[in-house]
Amino acid sequence: MDHATQVALIRRIQEHLRTDTTHMEAEESRIPMESYLRADRLEAERELLFQRRPLLVAHTSQLPEPGDYLTHDASGLPLLVCRTASGEPTAFLNVCRHRGTRLVEEECGRRKHAFVCPYHGWTYDTEGSLRAVPHETGFPSRPSESVGLVRVSIAERFGLLWAQGRKDSRFAADTFLAPIASELASHGLETHVVFRPQRLELKLNWKLAIEIFLEAYHVRHAHRTSIYPLFIDNVGLMDRLAPHIRCVFPKRTLRDLAGTPEETWRLRPHANILYFIFPNTLMLVQPDHVNVTTVFPLDLDRTDFRTFTLLPEAPLSEKATRHWDKNVDLFMAAVQEDIQMGESIQRGLRSGANASLRLARFEHGLRYFHEAMDQALGVRG
Ligand code: FES
Ligand SMILES: [Fe+2]
Repeated sequence: MDHATQVALIRRIQEHLRTDTTHMEAEESRIPMESYLRADRLEAERELLFQRRPLLVAHTSQLPEPGDYLTHDASGLPLLVCRTASGEPTAFLNVCRHRGTRLVEEECGRRKHAFVCPYHGWTYDTEGSLRAVPHETGFPSRPSESVGLVRVSIAERFGLLWAQGRKDSRFAADTFLAPIASELASHGLETHVVFRPQRLELKLNWKLAIEIFLEAYHVRHAHRTSIYPLFIDNVGLMDRLAPHIRCVFPKRTLRDLAGTPEETWRLRPHANILYFIFPNTLMLVQPDHVNVTTVFPLDLDRTDFRTFTLLPEAPLSEKATRHWDKNVDLFMAAVQEDIQMGESIQRGLRSGANASLRLARFEHGLRYFHEAMDQALGVRG
């Protein structure tokens, strides 16, 4: 984030502190309950949000060498992502072109040359070309001359791999990420490394797993003894970088900047910056590391929650590992508190108590999220 933007954000927070206000919309709003409960809504989300837009599937450091590959099924499409001999990323549907067997079962690995289908042995190279067909005389159409794995769009940007599963996707990764690109670029994530990747299955609708990150209102109560001591009650900035959102959650230490020269101001030590990258990625930028979370629907009330931490360099000593472990533990403790609240909401969704969920003027991060979804799904507001 450039210095002028950091100063502008700090000034806005200082003004809220001075006037005892917070950033908010003119009006309250509501989220209709159907958006969490209807099966047809979930189908539309899978199709239009998870399969036709660039989704974060890995960090660059998870595919460092030619021949490295990983499988990714969370979008509802079976993806095989590899790094080719030339170092470029490539991605395919992980489905054999003979009779459709899953080509690669493992989550990740390294194959220098070929993927061999476990059923009849059709063999593909890391570019997806079909290289060998046992007893090809049985196929007068000569598939080895014309068939390859079905390619999926993939782009490597900001140290992250973005894949979109459907061939007829309309969104180029660069266009899609443009509103947030300069900020993502400024964090130098290309040179970071993944630390402690984890996967949880949550008992809630996937949107609730996003919403628990998008406001500061809950911090004082839900995180009373974990992280609230670090933060300022209910002060946050939510800015649309549509369809994405940038949230800034100031820490108490930001007050210390008053009276110091602006040239020395830096936002990262004094606030958590959260980028919500539509539709399912949360990137929490902390002073010296970044937590990256992606969520995917498993069902209306079950969610695949994947998170990893990006460190500026791999920890080289036990002391460094302990330091980063402590950071991740604190993050996960707060996330568990959030998840408890989200799962609690889920349990009451069908009770009939609320026909819609009520958002305060300062819970507008959730409103922006739902408005972006409505637009993407063609729902009229
Ligand atoms: S299904 Fe893959 S080789 Fe037959
Ligand atoms: Fe929280």
